[in-house]
Amino acid sequence: MTAQPRSDALVLFGATGDLANKMLYPALQALVKREHFDMPVIGVSRSEWSDQQLRERAHDSLQRNHSLDRAAFEKLAGRLHYVSGDYQDPATFDKLQKALGAAKHPLYYLAIPPSTFPEVVKGLGTIKATRGARVVAEKPFGRDLATARDLNRVLHGVFEEDSILRIDHYLGKETVLNLPYFRFANSFIEPIWNRNQIRSVQITMAEEFGIGSRGELYESLGAIRDVVQNHMLQVVAMLAMEPPQGEHGEAFRDEKIKVFKSIRPLVPEDVVRGQYQGYRKEQDVAKDSDTETYAALRLRLDSWRWAGVPFFIRAGKRLPATATEVMVELKRPPQKVFAERRPQHANHVRFQLGPDRIAIGIGVRTKRPGPEMVGEDVELFACDREHQGLSAYERLINDAVHGDVSQFDREDGVEEAWRIVEPVLDGKTPLHEYAPGSWGPSQADALTARYGGWHAPRVQS
Ligand code: BG6
Repeated sequence: MTAQPRSDALVLFGATGDLANKMLYPALQALVKREHFDMPVIGVSRSEWSDQQLRERAHDSLQRNHSLDRAAFEKLAGRLHYVSGDYQDPATFDKLQKALGAAKHPLYYLAIPPSTFPEVVKGLGTIKATRGARVVAEKPFGRDLATARDLNRVLHGVFEEDSILRIDHYLGKETVLNLPYFRFANSFIEPIWNRNQIRSVQITMAEEFGIGSRGELYESLGAIRDVVQNHMLQVVAMLAMEPPQGEHGEAFRDEKIKVFKSIRPLVPEDVVRGQYQGYRKEQDVAKDSDTETYAALRLRLDSWRWAGVPFFIRAGKRLPATATEVMVELKRPPQKVFAERRPQHANHVRFQLGPDRIAIGIGVRTKRPGPEMVGEDVELFACDREHQGLSAYERLINDAVHGDVSQFDREDGVEEAWRIVEPVLDGKTPLHEYAPGSWGPSQADALTARYGGWHAPRVQS
């Protein structure tokens, strides 16, 4: 791969939208504070606004999120500019070209619905600076395999593959990056990290909140498109991948994509969809909606390392807690030596991925003091601390500015991920209601019944 030039301007499509307000302005402010970011930011959107209005909007959203840092914001505000216009109107891109001035390597960030990508990318094709530019495309990348392929074609009409950064913020999370780090920086893990020692893998992504004001968008997604096709499959890939040859660039992505290729397409019997009671009364939701707000599923990997080891995923909204956790359960000792009642679960490695703490716990049994040979479960912590360091968006924007593509999705990766979920995207698998505050529909219990049931995340907030 050729060395990529550093970006010299950030162009933010969807500058007045939800994602920009909640995630991107806080990340930009943090980058400015760390003095990692010194370029102009040009917001683009349909709203008829001035530079000043955009600054006020960014200021208000930072204040609302309790993340306003006055000094850093002042610096960021000084770099914020605004271009208003319809994405289908060539005049919008003329205005953008002028606003870019002498910038040669802009970073175009598409924080807009995928349905509007084609018109924006077409407009970008008319801008002179596109040759040295990169483009960041938000998830979900398309609605299914066919639309993802179409989007890839549209983007390739203007940008080279190594200038296209398909973003999934899970790939920028400290906790998620700790999965391959922990696996490949320690030699004791490798001998147990396979079908000989591992009985099952579970990933739970639980959210206590509902869909809030995102009804219109969520109706077009559902849990499988919103978080399974992307965030959850990325976590699976990090857990299941072979060691890459080297730290950066294509080696990492190659190994992850090999994992996707080994995963069989989902079959309806391995999927349980749920919808929380009251979802159909949410703002902008159809009265007869069959969009799932919960999905539980079993993945089957065809590889020497993982054959026969089920990877279970469950992700849902309005569950009892907000917590994302991976539980890797090891096999039991082959024979019973002590007369105590066998514990339900054997040893484990547990990765707490969110929301606020990073923890890696190794579950073992030790003898309880006393006359009998009876034990108790304890967890040894490899780490257990509050989240520190860069936020996911901060890291990924910084990588994008420097042209480091290793934590972005590649064309073949995103298409493989759609291939896996494609058979159950038609909404034909039964949809079960569940009570808000419960762990989802009871039908999901059957998936893990032979493996000791679902593990509730240890730490919940
Ligand atoms: C987003 C989804 O990509 O990720 C949301 O669209 C979800 O529905 C969010 O709530 C979760 O992200 P995090 O970082 O809070 O786990």
